[in-house]
Amino acid sequence: MAAGADALSRWPYPRVLAHRGGGKLAPENTLAGMREAHARRMRGVEFDVMLAADGIPVLMHDSQLGRTVPGVGSVSAFASEELARMDAGGWFGPDFLGEPVPALQEVASWLDDHGLWMNVEIKPAPGHDVDTGDIVGRLIAELYPGMAGAARLPLFSSFSATALGAARAAAPHIPRGLLVEEVPDDWAGQLEALDCVSLHCRHDALDAALALRITGAGYGLMCYTVNEPARARQLFSWGVDAICTDRYDLIGADFR
Ligand code: G3P
Ligand code: MG
Repeated sequence: MAAGADALSRWPYPRVLAHRGGGKLAPENTLAGMREAHARRMRGVEFDVMLAADGIPVLMHDSQLGRTVPGVGSVSAFASEELARMDAGGWFGPDFLGEPVPALQEVASWLDDHGLWMNVEIKPAPGHDVDTGDIVGRLIAELYPGMAGAARLPLFSSFSATALGAARAAAPHIPRGLLVEEVPDDWAGQLEALDCVSLHCRHDALDAALALRITGAGYGLMCYTVNEPARARQLFSWGVDAICTDRYDLIGADFR
C-alpha cells in the first residue's frame, strides 16, 4: 500500500454505510432493511453473515436465536430453509412480521441489482471461522469474478483474522478490511499480514492522531457505529473515510 495514497484510492466506496442494512429504521440483516436503505438513497450497506447448518451463508448477527429471531438455540443448528421460515422482523415492529432470515446470495443479488455497494462482515459462529470465510469467499467470488472496477467489488471484513484469511484464500481478488474494537498497537502488521485495504474500528477507539497514522499509511479507515451527526462530522474532519450508521435518516449518503 502506497503511503500518502489519496482518499479515493484508499477508500473508493461510499462514505456512509447503513449498519446491518436497516440500522434503527428497519429490522437488521433483512431484505426489508436493504429496501429501507435503498428507499432512503443510501449507496452502501454493511451486514453480517453466518453459516446455517447446511453451509449456506445467511444474514445474521447473533450466533444464538432469541434477540431478533424468536427461538432458542444456535443459528448454526438450523438449515437455511428453516431460518428462512423464521420471523426476523416481528421484533422490530408489526409491519415487518414474518420477514425471513435471508440467504447471502439473495441479498447480494438484490443489492447488486439496485446498485448498492456492500461491506460483507463475515461473522462466524464459534468454531466456524475457516468454513465461514471459505464459503462466503467462494460465493462472493462467483458473483464477482475478476470484475474490472475495483470500487464495485464488495469488501469483506471480520473480527476473525482466521475467517478473513480463509476468505482471502478463496477469493483473493475481493478486498479485505480488518475489523477491531480497539485499534491494536500492531495494527499495521495485522493489516499487512492479511493484505487488507482498510481498518474498521469502533469510533470511540480513535483520536485524530491515530486516524492520521492509519490513513497516512494508505489504509482506508471505517468507523462504527456513528449515530450522532456532530460526531460523524468530527470523524470526517480527522480524515476518516467512512462511517457505519444506524441513523441514516440523520446521517445520509451525502452527509458532510
Ligand atoms: O462492521 C461494523 C460493525 O457492524 C461491527 O459490529 O457487532 O455491529 O457487527 P457489529
Ligand atoms: Mg456488523
